[in-house]
Amino acid sequence: MQIIQRIPFTIHHFATLGSTNDYLKTLADAQEFTCVTADEQTAGRGRYTRAWHSAPGEGLYLSVLLRPKAAKVSLLSLAAASAVAETLQAHGGSDIDIKWPNDVLLGERKVCGILLEAVGNETSLRVIVGIGVNLNHTLFPPELSETATSLRLMTGNEVAVASFRDTLLQRVLHWYQAWQQDAQSIVQRWQELSSFAYGQEVQVMLASGQLSGVTSGLTDDGALRLRLPTGEEQIILAGDVMRLRRH
Ligand code: BTN
Repeated sequence: MQIIQRIPFTIHHFATLGSTNDYLKTLADAQEFTCVTADEQTAGRGRYTRAWHSAPGEGLYLSVLLRPKAAKVSLLSLAAASAVAETLQAHGGSDIDIKWPNDVLLGERKVCGILLEAVGNETSLRVIVGIGVNLNHTLFPPELSETATSLRLMTGNEVAVASFRDTLLQRVLHWYQAWQQDAQSIVQRWQELSSFAYGQEVQVMLASGQLSGVTSGLTDDGALRLRLPTGEEQIILAGDVMRLRRH
């Protein structure tokens, strides 16, 4: 294990780990801004108990520990997605998009996933922000080959993973501070970066079934407003969004 200082972040870097989120969770007394990264994850986890493809040396597999004072953490996952989108921009990416809530896309394919996990209670809350970015992948397993991409596949250039990590940490810090001072700036920035925010015909898979409608921005808490064919507005707190037609 190697320790890398990037003030205020302390990075614990491993060659291989099961999951950087799981490892960071075991560091119960770790200070805010402790990070865990690995060249490879053998049990990388995604949302909805999915696996996260974590090929050795090709991606950024990063978890950051935050200890927010306020319990309203839903906007932090949108903040993390904005940070990734800005980092992709700074590293030559184009056609960048965010699919609600926090899948970052390049050319309509997924390049990054974010898994935010909260541990503890209101007085001692730990939030683990897990970010997986496909950087140098040139090939994906068959089940991802139609939907995933990497920054290298899109730009043709090899990406320096450590440099991408350092830019990303700075953007995460920026949006975390913004969240502390003016949480609504996150909603605004996310809406600027995402083509899904307004006027998109989407289908949403919910735990209770599926819904179709047209997006109409986010609530103050970062939930998705969906205009149903009946004209009624539905607020989506959690679900998997799929675009039906591009507008
Ligand atoms: C998703 O889109 O389903 C979220 C994927 C999150 C993957 C990252 S990789 C680093 C961190 N460690 C994990 O086990 N998962 C997150």
